[in-house]
Amino acid sequence: YWANACHVLVLVLCLSAAEDFDWSANNHDSFYYGTFPNGFSWGAGSSAYQTEGAWDKDGKGLSIWDVFTHKKGKTFLNDTGDSSCEGYYKIKDDISLMKELNLNHYRFSISWPRIMPTGIRSDHVNEKGVNYYNALIDELLEHNITPIVTLYHWDLPQVLQEKYGGWQNISMINYFNDFANLCFERYGDRVKYWITFNNPWSVAVEGYETGEHAPGLKLRGTGAYRAAHHIIKAHAKVWHTYDTQWRNKQRGMVGISLSGDWGEPVDITNQKDIEAAERYVQFYIGWFATPIFHGDYPQVMKDFIGRKSAQQGLGTSRLPTFSSQEKSYIKGTSDFLGVGHFTTHYITQKSFPSSRGYTYFSDWDVAELVDPRWPDPGSEWLYSVPWGFRRLLNFIKTQYGNPMIYITENGVSEKMMCTELCDDWRIQYYKAYINEMLKAIRDGVNVKGYTAWSLLDKFEWDEGYSERFGLYYVDFRNKNKPRYPKASVQFYKRIIRSNGFPNQREVENWRRKATETCSTSNQLLAAGQWTIDLNLVEELGQTRKNSIC
Ligand code: NOJ
Repeated sequence: YWANACHVLVLVLCLSAAEDFDWSANNHDSFYYGTFPNGFSWGAGSSAYQTEGAWDKDGKGLSIWDVFTHKKGKTFLNDTGDSSCEGYYKIKDDISLMKELNLNHYRFSISWPRIMPTGIRSDHVNEKGVNYYNALIDELLEHNITPIVTLYHWDLPQVLQEKYGGWQNISMINYFNDFANLCFERYGDRVKYWITFNNPWSVAVEGYETGEHAPGLKLRGTGAYRAAHHIIKAHAKVWHTYDTQWRNKQRGMVGISLSGDWGEPVDITNQKDIEAAERYVQFYIGWFATPIFHGDYPQVMKDFIGRKSAQQGLGTSRLPTFSSQEKSYIKGTSDFLGVGHFTTHYITQKSFPSSRGYTYFSDWDVAELVDPRWPDPGSEWLYSVPWGFRRLLNFIKTQYGNPMIYITENGVSEKMMCTELCDDWRIQYYKAYINEMLKAIRDGVNVKGYTAWSLLDKFEWDEGYSERFGLYYVDFRNKNKPRYPKASVQFYKRIIRSNGFPNQREVENWRRKATETCSTSNQLLAAGQWTIDLNLVEELGQTRKNSIC
């Protein structure tokens, strides 16, 4: 939908607005050479459904994504995560890749139906599933890699969707709490960083409002708000469970990971654009962060959705409300904030006529614009706008009382379907975004760690395997799913080794070296594929489709 929602506009950039940080030093082209604070944690990430495969193995139950992808027409080329990267069988291989990168942490998620097949603890706990994560955690710790564990990265047990309507139903709060409690019980002796939900914005909007993601419901105007309401309460409940039952013993932290695109007013002298951009960010990250840090939804969401609901003739707002007890229960329930960030838009005010219906996307009265000069090497929605990252981080610092932040996702994909290991654009993306994060830390933002998204190419939801975010290339056509380093591995590894960017000469050298290595391995891989293509005669049609560059 991004493509439709974005009005492409040629912009004369003139951005020197007063900010609460030293904006004059934020010349978009300037690069800051320097290092990160001691102890800064470098990592890479993945999620269960996107990488594990083994969708029906060892007693795992179905998730909403298993069912969604098995229906025709839901994903690109009807791709599924049935086998994906076969990560379930490759713990040791993948940890050796992490060692090659010298990672301090690895972020992964636990598949709820793998350890509780119906989602309900009293039905059955699947010990084989439990042990898979035990093995992963033990192996990580053995290699000195800290596990950062997400409890919910979108793979709700199908039974809970079918029986109760999933996140539309308040009963999810207790079921999710039981699941989280089991995870604390079984893994909390070794896992000290817990993320309750990954990117609840996507779960709510794409799962229950637009239906592009599982479970594919199109409950426009209400579905997303209701799902989000239950998710926020479920998050708070799990934080309290940890706080009262486990914190003393286990001494870990519980947070949430929110996705936040940045919205910049298209015309910084126009008050309407300034307000529209503020609203965009509040409807995005503020929707979840404001209740968690301040106890209630952003005022601007209450105002806009309330007014539009009244215009529709509804007696109450489509945005649910929290009771005062709930507000104080929810407030302060994040020991750290996980931030997933990929891109930025210019924002302008746009009123939606009531004839277009009442939806999340018409409630906020904004239009998203892009500068055609912004690089967009991968996913349609993903423009490389590094300075937006620094602005978002400063916004979080100011709005939510300078919380401890872990970047839980940041990275870029490639659209090309042919093998491309020389990912110079990814090197540029990481270099610039990580540098903006360094500037933000110098602005006083409390960022403690960074997670590159993602370790491997993997199943990219409704886009199937057509968008590759990995530092490592995965050959999905080969049933062994071999992994090959892209050039960005060499580059990221050097950032990690130096804990930042020592000086211009060295950083340019890294880039040159990374590109030299990749051309040799690229040729080897290409040679390998030639043999495979000849052998997989019945898959030739598919292979051809995938070979268009
Ligand atoms: C955010 C999601 O959490 C992740 O699963 C996905 O791969 C990235 N966005 C890229 O689209």
